[in-house]
Amino acid sequence: MDSFLIEGGVPLRGEVIISGSKNAVLPIMAATLLTAERCVIRRVPALTDVGYMSKILRSLGAEVILEDGTLTVRAAQLSGFGDYDLIRKMRGSICILGPLLARLHEARVSLPGGCVIGTRPIDLHLKGLRGLGAEVDTEGGYIRVHAAKLTGQMVFMGGRTGPTVLGTANILMAATLAEGVTVIESAACEPEIIDLAHFLIAMGAKIVGAGSPTITVTGVPALHGADHEVITDRIEAGTFAAAAVATRGEVMIHGARHDHLVAVLDKLREAGGEIVYCASGIKVSARADFKPVDITTMPYSGFPTDMQAQMMALACLANGTSIITERIFESRFMHASELMRLGADISIEGASAIVKGGRPMSGAPVMASDLRASAALVIAGLAASGKTQVNRVYHLDRGYERMELKLQKLGARIQRVEEE
Ligand code: EPZ
Repeated sequence: MDSFLIEGGVPLRGEVIISGSKNAVLPIMAATLLTAERCVIRRVPALTDVGYMSKILRSLGAEVILEDGTLTVRAAQLSGFGDYDLIRKMRGSICILGPLLARLHEARVSLPGGCVIGTRPIDLHLKGLRGLGAEVDTEGGYIRVHAAKLTGQMVFMGGRTGPTVLGTANILMAATLAEGVTVIESAACEPEIIDLAHFLIAMGAKIVGAGSPTITVTGVPALHGADHEVITDRIEAGTFAAAAVATRGEVMIHGARHDHLVAVLDKLREAGGEIVYCASGIKVSARADFKPVDITTMPYSGFPTDMQAQMMALACLANGTSIITERIFESRFMHASELMRLGADISIEGASAIVKGGRPMSGAPVMASDLRASAALVIAGLAASGKTQVNRVYHLDRGYERMELKLQKLGARIQRVEEE
Protein backbone atom coordinates (compact mmCIF):
# COMPACT_ATOMS: atom_id res chain seq x y z
CA MET A 1 0.00 0.00 0.00
CA ASP A 2 1.45 3.36 -1.06
CA SER A 3 2.32 6.10 1.36
CA PHE A 4 3.33 9.75 1.11
CA LEU A 5 6.62 10.99 2.55
CA ILE A 6 6.38 14.70 3.37
CA GLU A 7 9.06 17.13 4.54
CA GLY A 8 7.00 19.94 6.04
CA GLY A 9 7.55 23.67 6.50
CA VAL A 10 7.56 24.72 2.83
CA PRO A 11 5.03 27.40 1.76
CA LEU A 12 3.05 26.28 -1.30
CA ARG A 13 3.57 28.72 -4.19
CA GLY A 14 2.35 28.69 -7.77
CA GLU A 15 -0.70 27.54 -9.71
CA VAL A 16 -2.83 24.41 -9.56
CA ILE A 17 -5.64 23.22 -11.85
CA ILE A 18 -8.66 21.63 -10.18
CA SER A 19 -9.95 18.38 -11.72
CA GLY A 20 -13.51 17.36 -12.48
CA SER A 21 -15.77 16.65 -9.52
CA LYS A 22 -15.80 13.08 -8.13
CA ASN A 23 -19.22 13.59 -6.58
CA ALA A 24 -20.67 14.94 -9.81
CA VAL A 25 -19.15 12.42 -12.22
CA LEU A 26 -20.27 9.29 -10.32
CA PRO A 27 -24.05 9.93 -10.56
CA ILE A 28 -23.57 11.27 -14.11
CA MET A 29 -21.85 7.99 -15.08
CA ALA A 30 -24.83 6.13 -13.58
CA ALA A 31 -27.21 8.33 -15.60
CA THR A 32 -25.71 7.02 -18.87
CA LEU A 33 -27.62 3.80 -18.12
CA LEU A 34 -30.86 5.67 -18.88
CA THR A 35 -30.28 5.57 -22.65
CA ALA A 36 -29.04 3.10 -25.26
CA GLU A 37 -27.35 5.96 -27.08
CA ARG A 38 -23.77 7.15 -26.79
CA CYS A 39 -22.90 9.61 -24.02
CA VAL A 40 -19.69 11.66 -23.82
CA ILE A 41 -18.56 13.02 -20.46
CA ARG A 42 -15.61 15.43 -20.32
CA ARG A 43 -13.25 16.60 -17.54
CA VAL A 44 -13.47 13.17 -15.91
CA PRO A 45 -10.91 12.89 -13.08
CA ALA A 46 -8.52 9.90 -13.00
CA LEU A 47 -9.72 8.48 -9.66
CA THR A 48 -10.06 4.93 -8.40
CA ASP A 49 -13.75 5.60 -7.75
CA VAL A 50 -14.21 6.44 -11.44
CA GLY A 51 -12.43 3.19 -12.25
CA TYR A 52 -14.81 1.27 -9.99
CA MET A 53 -17.88 2.86 -11.55
CA SER A 54 -16.52 2.08 -15.04
CA LYS A 55 -16.12 -1.57 -14.01
CA ILE A 56 -19.71 -1.68 -12.75
CA LEU A 57 -21.07 -0.17 -15.99
CA ARG A 58 -19.04 -2.67 -18.04
CA SER A 59 -20.30 -5.54 -15.87
CA LEU A 60 -23.82 -4.44 -16.80
CA GLY A 61 -22.96 -4.70 -20.49
CA ALA A 62 -22.14 -1.07 -21.28
CA GLU A 63 -19.22 -0.07 -23.50
CA VAL A 64 -17.01 2.28 -21.50
CA ILE A 65 -13.93 4.03 -22.88
CA LEU A 66 -11.90 6.57 -20.89
CA GLU A 67 -9.23 8.47 -22.82
CA ASP A 68 -7.47 11.64 -21.61
CA GLY A 69 -10.25 12.62 -19.27
CA THR A 70 -13.06 11.99 -21.76
CA LEU A 71 -15.41 9.11 -21.00
CA THR A 72 -17.58 7.56 -23.70
CA VAL A 73 -20.38 5.26 -22.52
CA ARG A 74 -22.88 3.32 -24.58
CA ALA A 75 -25.29 1.24 -22.52
CA ALA A 76 -27.00 -0.33 -25.55
CA GLN A 77 -27.46 -3.88 -24.26
CA LEU A 78 -27.83 -3.92 -20.52
CA SER A 79 -27.46 -7.45 -19.27
CA GLY A 80 -29.40 -8.02 -16.08
CA PHE A 81 -27.44 -8.03 -12.89
CA GLY A 82 -23.89 -6.77 -12.92
CA ASP A 83 -20.98 -7.09 -10.56
CA TYR A 84 -22.82 -5.60 -7.70
CA ASP A 85 -20.29 -6.60 -5.11
CA LEU A 86 -18.37 -3.52 -6.12
CA ILE A 87 -21.11 -1.51 -4.43
CA ARG A 88 -19.87 -2.79 -1.11
CA LYS A 89 -16.49 -1.30 -2.00
CA MET A 90 -17.76 2.04 -3.18
CA ARG A 91 -20.87 3.54 -1.64
CA GLY A 92 -21.19 6.04 -4.48
CA SER A 93 -22.27 3.31 -6.89
CA ILE A 94 -25.62 2.96 -5.08
CA CYS A 95 -26.85 5.56 -7.56
CA ILE A 96 -27.15 2.94 -10.31
CA LEU A 97 -30.38 1.78 -8.64
CA GLY A 98 -32.61 4.54 -10.01
CA PRO A 99 -31.42 4.38 -13.63
CA LEU A 100 -31.54 0.57 -13.77
CA LEU A 101 -35.06 0.56 -12.34
CA ALA A 102 -36.18 3.14 -14.89
CA ARG A 103 -34.49 1.40 -17.84
CA LEU A 104 -34.86 -2.32 -16.98
CA HIS A 105 -37.78 -2.09 -14.53
CA GLU A 106 -35.69 -3.96 -11.99
CA ALA A 107 -32.29 -3.90 -10.32
CA ARG A 108 -30.43 -5.94 -7.74
CA VAL A 109 -27.48 -4.50 -5.84
CA SER A 110 -25.52 -5.59 -2.80
CA LEU A 111 -26.38 -3.62 0.30
CA PRO A 112 -23.67 -0.97 0.55
CA GLY A 113 -21.68 -1.55 3.71
CA GLY A 114 -21.12 1.20 6.19
CA CYS A 115 -17.73 2.82 6.30
CA VAL A 116 -15.52 4.49 8.90
CA ILE A 117 -17.51 7.73 8.76
CA GLY A 118 -20.90 6.20 9.45
CA THR A 119 -23.47 3.45 8.91
CA ARG A 120 -24.51 5.02 5.59
CA PRO A 121 -28.14 3.76 5.47
CA ILE A 122 -30.18 3.86 2.24
CA ASP A 123 -33.69 3.96 3.73
CA LEU A 124 -34.43 7.29 2.02
CA HIS A 125 -33.33 5.94 -1.39
CA LEU A 126 -35.73 3.00 -1.00
CA LYS A 127 -38.52 5.23 0.35
CA GLY A 128 -38.26 7.43 -2.73
CA LEU A 129 -38.25 4.50 -5.16
CA ARG A 130 -41.24 2.96 -3.40
CA GLY A 131 -42.93 6.36 -3.74
CA LEU A 132 -42.57 6.05 -7.52
CA GLY A 133 -44.19 2.60 -7.42
CA ALA A 134 -41.24 0.23 -6.97
CA GLU A 135 -41.43 -2.94 -4.93
CA VAL A 136 -38.39 -3.30 -2.73
CA ASP A 137 -37.15 -6.38 -0.95
CA THR A 138 -33.87 -7.37 0.62
CA GLU A 139 -32.51 -10.87 0.85
CA GLY A 140 -29.05 -12.37 1.40
CA GLY A 141 -27.34 -9.01 1.58
CA TYR A 142 -28.92 -7.85 -1.67
CA ILE A 143 -31.57 -5.23 -2.36
CA ARG A 144 -33.93 -5.97 -5.23
CA VAL A 145 -36.19 -3.31 -6.70
CA HIS A 146 -38.87 -3.99 -9.30
CA ALA A 147 -41.52 -1.88 -11.03
CA ALA A 148 -43.44 -2.72 -14.20
CA LYS A 149 -44.08 1.01 -14.42
CA LEU A 150 -42.88 4.06 -12.47
CA THR A 151 -45.50 6.72 -11.75
CA GLY A 152 -44.72 10.33 -10.88
CA GLN A 153 -45.52 11.29 -7.27
CA MET A 154 -44.52 13.77 -4.58
CA VAL A 155 -41.69 12.17 -2.63
CA PHE A 156 -40.27 13.66 0.57
CA MET A 157 -36.54 12.91 0.79
CA GLY A 158 -35.64 14.59 4.10
CA GLY A 159 -33.82 12.48 6.68
CA ARG A 160 -32.71 12.91 10.28
CA THR A 161 -29.75 15.04 9.18
CA GLY A 162 -31.47 16.76 6.27
CA PRO A 163 -31.50 15.78 2.58
CA THR A 164 -29.60 12.88 1.01
CA VAL A 165 -27.36 13.73 -1.96
CA LEU A 166 -27.23 10.37 -3.72
CA GLY A 167 -30.78 9.60 -2.62
CA THR A 168 -31.89 12.74 -4.46
CA ALA A 169 -29.79 11.65 -7.46
CA ASN A 170 -31.40 8.20 -7.52
CA ILE A 171 -34.97 9.54 -7.43
CA LEU A 172 -34.19 12.32 -9.90
CA MET A 173 -32.85 9.81 -12.43
CA ALA A 174 -35.71 7.33 -11.96
CA ALA A 175 -38.30 10.12 -12.27
CA THR A 176 -37.04 11.20 -15.71
CA LEU A 177 -38.67 8.10 -17.25
CA ALA A 178 -41.64 7.79 -14.86
CA GLU A 179 -45.15 8.43 -16.15
CA GLY A 180 -46.38 11.85 -15.06
CA VAL A 181 -44.93 14.50 -12.75
CA THR A 182 -42.65 13.83 -9.79
CA VAL A 183 -42.01 16.46 -7.12
CA ILE A 184 -38.97 15.80 -4.94
CA GLU A 185 -39.38 17.66 -1.65
CA SER A 186 -36.41 18.29 0.68
CA ALA A 187 -34.12 17.53 -2.25
CA ALA A 188 -30.36 17.97 -1.82
CA CYS A 189 -29.19 21.34 -3.19
CA GLU A 190 -25.52 20.45 -3.77
CA PRO A 191 -23.87 21.71 -7.01
CA GLU A 192 -23.36 18.07 -7.98
CA ILE A 193 -27.15 17.62 -8.14
CA ILE A 194 -27.40 20.68 -10.42
CA ASP A 195 -24.68 19.22 -12.66
CA LEU A 196 -26.51 15.87 -12.83
CA ALA A 197 -29.72 17.70 -13.74
CA HIS A 198 -27.89 19.60 -16.51
CA PHE A 199 -26.69 16.28 -17.96
CA LEU A 200 -30.18 14.73 -17.73
CA ILE A 201 -31.75 17.81 -19.38
CA ALA A 202 -29.17 17.49 -22.18
CA MET A 203 -30.42 13.89 -22.55
CA GLY A 204 -33.96 15.21 -23.02
CA ALA A 205 -35.26 15.10 -19.44
CA LYS A 206 -37.70 17.73 -18.20
CA ILE A 207 -36.44 19.04 -14.84
CA VAL A 208 -37.16 22.30 -13.00
CA GLY A 209 -35.76 23.43 -9.67
CA ALA A 210 -32.47 21.50 -9.39
CA GLY A 211 -30.37 23.22 -6.72
CA SER A 212 -33.47 24.11 -4.71
CA PRO A 213 -35.22 21.96 -2.08
CA THR A 214 -38.08 21.27 -4.53
CA ILE A 215 -37.31 19.60 -7.86
CA THR A 216 -40.12 18.95 -10.37
CA VAL A 217 -39.61 16.26 -13.03
CA THR A 218 -42.00 15.60 -15.90
CA GLY A 219 -41.42 12.07 -17.19
CA VAL A 220 -40.62 11.44 -20.87
CA PRO A 221 -40.83 8.15 -22.81
CA ALA A 222 -37.09 7.93 -23.51
CA LEU A 223 -33.81 9.80 -23.20
CA HIS A 224 -31.09 10.23 -25.85
CA GLY A 225 -27.31 10.52 -25.67
CA ALA A 226 -25.60 13.74 -24.59
CA ASP A 227 -22.20 15.43 -24.36
CA HIS A 228 -21.41 17.05 -21.01
CA GLU A 229 -18.46 18.65 -19.23
CA VAL A 230 -18.41 17.90 -15.48
CA ILE A 231 -18.07 20.78 -13.01
CA THR A 232 -14.80 21.16 -11.14
CA ASP A 233 -14.36 19.54 -7.74
CA ARG A 234 -15.25 22.07 -5.04
CA ILE A 235 -13.80 19.85 -2.30
CA GLU A 236 -10.46 19.45 -4.08
CA ALA A 237 -10.42 23.24 -4.53
CA GLY A 238 -11.21 23.76 -0.84
CA THR A 239 -8.53 21.27 0.13
CA PHE A 240 -5.82 23.09 -1.84
CA ALA A 241 -7.04 26.43 -0.46
CA ALA A 242 -6.71 25.11 3.11
CA ALA A 243 -3.22 23.78 2.29
CA ALA A 244 -2.17 27.17 0.87
CA VAL A 245 -3.27 28.92 4.07
CA ALA A 246 -1.82 26.27 6.40
CA THR A 247 1.63 26.52 4.77
CA ARG A 248 1.44 30.35 4.57
CA GLY A 249 1.95 30.17 0.83
CA GLU A 250 0.30 31.80 -2.17
CA VAL A 251 -1.57 29.60 -4.64
CA MET A 252 -3.66 30.41 -7.71
CA ILE A 253 -6.34 27.72 -7.83
CA HIS A 254 -7.63 27.56 -11.39
CA GLY A 255 -11.12 26.11 -11.79
CA ALA A 256 -12.24 26.86 -8.22
CA ARG A 257 -15.86 28.08 -8.41
CA HIS A 258 -16.42 30.91 -5.86
CA ASP A 259 -20.16 30.24 -5.97
CA HIS A 260 -19.60 26.61 -4.88
CA LEU A 261 -17.26 27.57 -2.04
CA VAL A 262 -19.02 30.44 -0.23
CA ALA A 263 -19.18 28.72 3.20
CA VAL A 264 -15.66 27.30 2.89
CA LEU A 265 -14.07 30.60 1.83
CA ASP A 266 -15.95 32.41 4.62
CA LYS A 267 -14.35 30.13 7.23
CA LEU A 268 -10.94 30.20 5.56
CA ARG A 269 -10.95 34.01 5.75
CA GLU A 270 -12.00 33.84 9.41
CA ALA A 271 -9.15 31.38 10.08
CA GLY A 272 -6.53 33.63 8.52
CA GLY A 273 -6.78 33.17 4.77
CA GLU A 274 -6.63 35.95 2.18
CA ILE A 275 -8.87 35.10 -0.78
CA VAL A 276 -8.87 37.02 -4.06
CA TYR A 277 -11.52 36.18 -6.68
CA CYS A 278 -10.08 35.92 -10.20
CA ALA A 279 -11.67 35.13 -13.55
CA SER A 280 -10.24 31.61 -13.63
CA GLY A 281 -10.58 30.81 -9.92
CA ILE A 282 -9.23 32.06 -6.61
CA LYS A 283 -5.83 33.21 -5.36
CA VAL A 284 -5.25 32.10 -1.77
CA SER A 285 -2.63 33.31 0.71
CA ALA A 286 -2.43 33.73 4.48
CA ARG A 287 -2.45 36.60 6.96
CA ALA A 288 0.23 36.65 9.67
CA ASP A 289 -1.82 35.20 12.47
CA PHE A 290 -4.25 32.27 12.33
CA LYS A 291 -7.47 32.55 14.31
CA PRO A 292 -9.56 29.75 15.82
CA VAL A 293 -12.88 29.02 14.09
CA ASP A 294 -16.17 27.42 15.13
CA ILE A 295 -17.62 25.20 12.39
CA THR A 296 -20.80 23.12 12.17
CA THR A 297 -21.24 20.94 9.09
CA MET A 298 -24.58 21.23 7.30
CA PRO A 299 -26.30 20.34 4.03
CA TYR A 300 -25.45 22.70 1.13
CA SER A 301 -25.11 25.69 1.17
CA GLY A 302 -23.91 25.32 4.75
CA PHE A 303 -20.35 24.29 5.60
CA PRO A 304 -19.68 20.95 3.81
CA THR A 305 -18.88 17.86 5.85
CA ASP A 306 -16.29 16.93 3.19
CA MET A 307 -14.17 19.93 4.26
CA GLN A 308 -14.45 19.31 8.02
CA ALA A 309 -11.24 17.29 8.40
CA GLN A 310 -9.18 19.71 6.32
CA MET A 311 -10.34 22.67 8.44
CA MET A 312 -9.52 20.74 11.62
CA ALA A 313 -5.93 20.46 10.41
CA LEU A 314 -5.83 24.22 9.89
CA ALA A 315 -7.44 24.88 13.30
CA CYS A 316 -4.53 23.03 14.94
CA LEU A 317 -2.27 25.87 13.81
CA ALA A 318 -4.34 28.74 15.26
CA ASN A 319 -3.69 30.30 18.66
CA GLY A 320 -6.90 29.51 20.50
CA THR A 321 -9.67 26.97 20.78
CA SER A 322 -11.83 25.94 17.80
CA ILE A 323 -15.04 23.93 18.11
CA ILE A 324 -15.84 21.74 15.11
CA THR A 325 -19.24 20.03 15.14
CA GLU A 326 -20.10 17.26 12.67
CA ARG A 327 -23.84 17.12 12.07
CA ILE A 328 -23.97 14.99 8.90
CA PHE A 329 -22.11 11.78 9.76
CA GLU A 330 -21.98 10.01 13.10
CA SER A 331 -18.25 9.22 13.22
CA ARG A 332 -16.22 11.51 11.03
CA PHE A 333 -13.41 12.39 13.47
CA MET A 334 -11.00 9.54 12.65
CA HIS A 335 -8.38 12.14 11.66
CA ALA A 336 -8.35 13.67 15.19
CA SER A 337 -6.25 10.94 16.80
CA GLU A 338 -3.78 10.98 13.89
CA LEU A 339 -3.50 14.79 14.06
CA MET A 340 -2.66 14.36 17.75
CA ARG A 341 0.31 12.22 16.74
CA LEU A 342 1.60 15.35 14.98
CA GLY A 343 1.24 17.37 18.20
CA ALA A 344 -2.37 18.57 18.04
CA ASP A 345 -4.47 18.88 21.21
CA ILE A 346 -8.00 17.68 20.34
CA SER A 347 -10.74 16.28 22.55
CA ILE A 348 -14.01 14.84 21.28
CA GLU A 349 -17.20 15.78 23.12
CA GLY A 350 -20.11 14.00 21.41
CA ALA A 351 -20.57 15.48 17.94
CA SER A 352 -17.95 18.17 18.58
CA ALA A 353 -14.18 18.25 18.45
CA ILE A 354 -12.50 20.80 20.73
CA VAL A 355 -9.24 21.83 19.07
CA LYS A 356 -6.79 23.69 21.29
CA GLY A 357 -4.51 25.09 18.61
CA GLY A 358 -1.16 26.81 18.72
CA ARG A 359 1.11 23.97 19.82
CA PRO A 360 3.99 23.40 17.37
CA MET A 361 3.21 20.54 14.96
CA SER A 362 6.03 18.09 14.22
CA GLY A 363 6.17 15.26 11.73
CA ALA A 364 5.40 11.61 12.56
CA PRO A 365 4.10 8.47 10.81
CA VAL A 366 0.28 8.67 10.55
CA MET A 367 -2.43 6.43 9.14
CA ALA A 368 -5.09 7.52 6.66
CA SER A 369 -8.53 6.11 7.46
CA ASP A 370 -10.83 7.66 4.87
CA LEU A 371 -10.70 10.02 1.93
CA ARG A 372 -10.96 13.41 3.60
CA ALA A 373 -9.11 12.37 6.77
CA SER A 374 -6.17 11.55 4.48
CA ALA A 375 -6.32 15.05 3.01
CA ALA A 376 -6.27 16.53 6.52
CA LEU A 377 -3.14 14.53 7.38
CA VAL A 378 -1.39 15.72 4.20
CA ILE A 379 -2.22 19.36 5.06
CA ALA A 380 -0.95 18.90 8.61
CA GLY A 381 2.22 17.18 7.35
CA LEU A 382 2.90 20.03 4.92
CA ALA A 383 2.58 22.56 7.78
CA ALA A 384 4.45 20.55 10.43
CA SER A 385 8.21 20.66 10.86
CA GLY A 386 10.14 17.52 9.98
CA LYS A 387 9.05 14.34 8.21
CA THR A 388 5.53 12.95 8.09
CA GLN A 389 4.69 9.62 6.49
CA VAL A 390 1.00 9.26 5.58
CA ASN A 391 0.24 5.56 5.17
CA ARG A 392 -2.58 3.94 3.14
CA VAL A 393 -2.94 6.80 0.66
CA TYR A 394 -5.15 4.55 -1.47
CA HIS A 395 -7.90 6.33 0.46
CA LEU A 396 -6.67 9.59 -1.04
CA ASP A 397 -6.46 8.22 -4.58
CA ARG A 398 -10.22 7.60 -4.47
CA GLY A 399 -10.96 11.32 -4.58
CA TYR A 400 -7.83 13.27 -5.49
CA GLU A 401 -6.14 13.01 -8.90
CA ARG A 402 -2.37 12.44 -8.26
CA MET A 403 -2.38 14.88 -5.34
CA GLU A 404 1.37 14.51 -4.77
CA LEU A 405 2.18 15.65 -8.35
CA LYS A 406 0.01 18.76 -7.97
CA LEU A 407 1.64 19.52 -4.60
CA GLN A 408 5.16 18.96 -5.99
CA LYS A 409 4.42 21.57 -8.68
CA LEU A 410 3.60 23.98 -5.83
CA GLY A 411 6.99 23.36 -4.25
CA ALA A 412 5.98 20.84 -1.62
CA ARG A 413 8.57 18.29 -0.58
CA ILE A 414 6.33 15.25 -0.99
CA GLN A 415 6.86 11.91 -2.67
CA ARG A 416 4.82 8.76 -3.14
CA VAL A 417 6.48 5.63 -1.71
CA GLU A 418 5.07 2.70 -3.66
CA GLU A 419 4.78 -0.53 -1.74
CA GLU A 420 3.47 -3.73 -3.22
C1 EPZ B 1 -22.58 12.19 -0.75
O1 EPZ B 1 -22.71 10.96 -0.07
C2 EPZ B 1 -21.09 12.35 -1.04
N1 EPZ B 1 -20.62 11.24 -1.86
C3 EPZ B 1 -20.30 12.39 0.26
O2 EPZ B 1 -18.94 12.65 -0.08
C4 EPZ B 1 -20.81 13.55 1.12
O3 EPZ B 1 -20.11 13.57 2.35
C5 EPZ B 1 -22.31 13.36 1.36
O4 EPZ B 1 -23.01 13.28 0.09
C6 EPZ B 1 -22.92 14.51 2.16
O5 EPZ B 1 -22.68 15.71 1.51
C7 EPZ B 1 -20.91 11.22 -3.19
O6 EPZ B 1 -21.57 12.10 -3.70
C8 EPZ B 1 -20.36 10.07 -3.98
P1 EPZ B 1 -26.00 11.47 2.04
P2 EPZ B 1 -24.19 10.36 0.21
O7 EPZ B 1 -26.95 10.45 1.56
O8 EPZ B 1 -25.14 10.83 -0.82
C9 EPZ B 1 -28.02 9.99 5.98
C10 EPZ B 1 -16.62 12.34 -0.02
O9 EPZ B 1 -15.79 12.48 0.90
N2 EPZ B 1 -28.83 9.14 5.11
O10 EPZ B 1 -26.21 12.89 1.61
O11 EPZ B 1 -24.03 8.91 0.42
C11 EPZ B 1 -26.56 9.57 6.01
O12 EPZ B 1 -26.36 8.54 6.98
C12 EPZ B 1 -17.93 11.66 0.27
O13 EPZ B 1 -16.47 12.75 -1.20
C13 EPZ B 1 -29.90 8.44 5.66
O14 EPZ B 1 -30.17 8.53 6.86
O15 EPZ B 1 -24.53 11.05 1.60
C14 EPZ B 1 -25.87 10.84 6.39
O16 EPZ B 1 -25.94 11.00 7.80
C15 EPZ B 1 -18.05 11.19 1.71
N3 EPZ B 1 -30.65 7.65 4.85
C16 EPZ B 1 -26.72 11.93 5.73
O17 EPZ B 1 -27.97 11.31 5.44
C17 EPZ B 1 -30.40 7.54 3.51
O18 EPZ B 1 -31.14 6.81 2.81
C18 EPZ B 1 -26.15 12.48 4.45
O19 EPZ B 1 -25.88 11.37 3.62
C19 EPZ B 1 -29.30 8.26 2.97
C20 EPZ B 1 -28.54 9.06 3.78
